[in-house]
Amino acid sequence: MALNKRHPAALFAVLAVALGTTGAAYAAVSSQTAPKVVAKTETQVEQGKQLYLEGCSSCHGLAAQGASDGPSLIGVGAASVDFQVGTGRMPLAAPGVQAMPKMPSYNEEETAALAAYIATLGAGPGIPTAEMLDTTNAELALGGELFRTNCAQCHGASAVGGALSEGRKAPSLMDADAKNLYEAMVSGPQSMPVFADSTLSVEDKQHIIAYVAELQKNESPGGFSLGRQGPVTEGLFIFVVGLGVLIVAAVWIGAKAK
Ligand code: HEC
Ligand code: HEC
Repeated sequence: MALNKRHPAALFAVLAVALGTTGAAYAAVSSQTAPKVVAKTETQVEQGKQLYLEGCSSCHGLAAQGASDGPSLIGVGAASVDFQVGTGRMPLAAPGVQAMPKMPSYNEEETAALAAYIATLGAGPGIPTAEMLDTTNAELALGGELFRTNCAQCHGASAVGGALSEGRKAPSLMDADAKNLYEAMVSGPQSMPVFADSTLSVEDKQHIIAYVAELQKNESPGGFSLGRQGPVTEGLFIFVVGLGVLIVAAVWIGAKAK
């Protein structure tokens, strides 16, 4: 294709077409990988089983017994599935990568079906009811105490997240809702311990949930939060900007000295 050199706009037109084509191709590819919606006539558990076989069995095994690329899901309970799928951690993009929160791949109905199917395989913590998540009688002071004893060593005293060993990170809890918090506590994702109801009663969990909600209300008291990404981003920001300022200052001083 011969570009008219006197019309630089032609270059922009070509660029725009190229970007548009790439975008369309990406959209086509990503919509192909979206999970198929199963007919609504099936029962919830049947639907969950179908979704499981299509989207999860490659890593967790045909009967969820576990395989080389994923742990057994027998007995993890509906809460763990609702947490993992609801926060977009599952399905894992590829074997061996760390599970990260992302846009969920399944809608609420499909997530509930997957959770219902896994719950039939073995007893485990269920999805918390509205009553269990009700914090009207919770005590903030007690919640703070429980949080500092059980959670702060990983998530930080103000729940903005913190670094763990082996390059892992305990995430910020600034966007975690009550269900998220409850399900994380009963299922113990990744290197987080399980806080079963026998260790931390339903009421204790409510105190903690109320306390975290209070921290969320009071987040970033003063200062610029930098998107609440926690100490890593803010450290990086200081590093990059601070270093930049120092370099500019050094060059300026050098130039003046001449
Ligand atoms: C590419 C492989 C892969 C796929 C696909 C996948 N998983 Fe996982 N899953 C894993 C791995 C690996 C872990 C352990 C992750 C960790 O510890 O952070 C895991 C953990 C889980 C857990 C937590 C188990 C526990 O002990 O509490 C649940 C629940 C789960 N997966 C459900 C699902 C569901 C449901 C699907 C399908 C929608 C799915 N996974 C798809 C690899 C996969
Ligand atoms: C030993 C360290 C450790 C302790 C103690 C711990 N957590 Fe976690 N927590 C983690 C890690 C690591 C993750 C990330 C798991 C993942 O991404 O799969 C996590 C994830 C979470 C999440 C999910 C956040 C999100 O991004 O969706 C919540 C909510 C949570 N923890 C709450 C708590 C609460 C409440 C306590 C105290 C009762 C607690 N944690 C104690 C390490 C810990």
